[in-house]
Amino acid sequence: MANLIVYFSHAGENWVNGQVVSLEKGNTQRAAEIIRDAVGGDLFEVRALEPYPKDYQALVARTKEEFENGLRPELAEYPSSLEEYDLIYIGYPNWWNTMPGPMFTFLAHYDLAGKRLAPFCTNEGGSMGMGEREMGRLCKGADVLPGLAVHGADVETEKEKRRIVEWAEKVQMG
Ligand SMILES: Cc1cc2nc3c(=O)[nH]c(=O)nc-3n(C[C@H](O)[C@H](O)[C@H](O)COP(=O)(O)O)c2cc1C
Repeated sequence: MANLIVYFSHAGENWVNGQVVSLEKGNTQRAAEIIRDAVGGDLFEVRALEPYPKDYQALVARTKEEFENGLRPELAEYPSSLEEYDLIYIGYPNWWNTMPGPMFTFLAHYDLAGKRLAPFCTNEGGSMGMGEREMGRLCKGADVLPGLAVHGADVETEKEKRRIVEWAEKVQMG
């Protein structure tokens, strides 16, 4: 059975190593591509219908409002079916100590009972946050496997790449 690697990631201004930096490609996307290259599978990027602002202050304002009100923004598109996938890697940046709103929207859209879900999260010190737990709550009947937290700024260092590959392969073996 094929793997699916679903991720949300924010290119543009971001919070990295204690300062605002502009990322051409988001950290979580980089991690998702490392996983795809290691174990193979289809990549799907979760995108909000209304794109997030590249400007950091505007991004913080919008995401704070979404977080505080538990909003689940509409998505630009969905895979028509997840039937063919048994193992789904799910990547997100830690936002406000949990998953970004669009990931909640995505997970709530499907019945994932019986699937194996492998969460990975890039962050600036907050590890997986509440994301894994929220995933378990949202995806009733799914098997949420032990996740992988990666310091976003280090995602492409040899050491972290190796950790990501090892984790992805281990999950793959079952
Ligand atoms: C709006 C916002 C909120 C964030 N909240 C947290 C947080 O609560 N804890 C944390 O460790 N990192 C937090 N971060 C840092 C991101 O998790 C980190 O930069 C991540 O690697 C970004 O991934 P991306 O480039 O794929 O979007 C936040 C970043 C943004 C933009």
